[in-house]
Amino acid sequence: MRSVDRIDALRAQVARWRQVGDRIAFVPTMGNLHAGHYSLIALAREQADRVVASIFVNPTQFGPNEDFARYPRTPEADEAGLAEAGCDLVFRPTVEEMYPFGADRCVTVRVPGLTDELDGAARPGHFDGVATVVLRLFNMVQPDSAVFGRKDFQQLRVIDYLVRELSLPIAIVPAPICRDADGLALSSRNQYLSPAERAIASELHHTLLAMQAALRDGTPLVKIETDAMDRLNRCGFQPDYAQIRRIHDLARPAAAERVGLIALVAARLGSTRLIDNLEM
Ligand code: PAF
Repeated sequence: MRSVDRIDALRAQVARWRQVGDRIAFVPTMGNLHAGHYSLIALAREQADRVVASIFVNPTQFGPNEDFARYPRTPEADEAGLAEAGCDLVFRPTVEEMYPFGADRCVTVRVPGLTDELDGAARPGHFDGVATVVLRLFNMVQPDSAVFGRKDFQQLRVIDYLVRELSLPIAIVPAPICRDADGLALSSRNQYLSPAERAIASELHHTLLAMQAALRDGTPLVKIETDAMDRLNRCGFQPDYAQIRRIHDLARPAAAERVGLIALVAARLGSTRLIDNLEM
């Protein structure tokens, strides 16, 4: 596996692969890779002849009081894991390479509407940073397809919108959520949890299962959401939201809707913010 930190080196390698007709799949990451990320690489391998991954802890998607500085950075372990998982090239740009005029003076991409709700309401500007860096990465790598995990479901929908809106010739491939045995969705942020917090963290997933069961029983949507918020509070979380939305565009469903829905939750445990979702 090759590792490059410059856009020109990345483009030269991708051009060589293109010359022999290879198709390219791309997996953007912020590093500190775990089994969930490696499952994205495996899915990318099924899509194309060559797999490119990126590792970049993107400053523009973190709020001023968020965990940018302490976000775990483990480049050596990540490169070893990517090589083993079958990645062909890892792109690890510096902040200067990604944002040549500075991260605070960059051209920003904004997906309207969707990015102000749910995680966008709890983390103002977060999805502007995500859309901005993903469009840059797409321009740099120019892949045929790109794999995104379903755990960040709102992010997936933001990228779908971006690609469709800007007519980017890239197929977006959603990947299933990887979970620990007790149901907790894998996330680099799980390692912030104390043992006591980790013991209750899987309640997030169990709350989603309870929402699914209530939906099947015909419980009104508003009551399902209120019950889920109460349950998370009782378990020791500080929930940001527990909502049921339409899966295709994350709009609010009408009260009688029962198909094509997804439940999404976000909650803090101590200083750690966790998100999860379940298709209904
Ligand atoms: O999901 C992530 O890890 C990040 O939001 C992404 C897509 C790599 C952009 O920085």
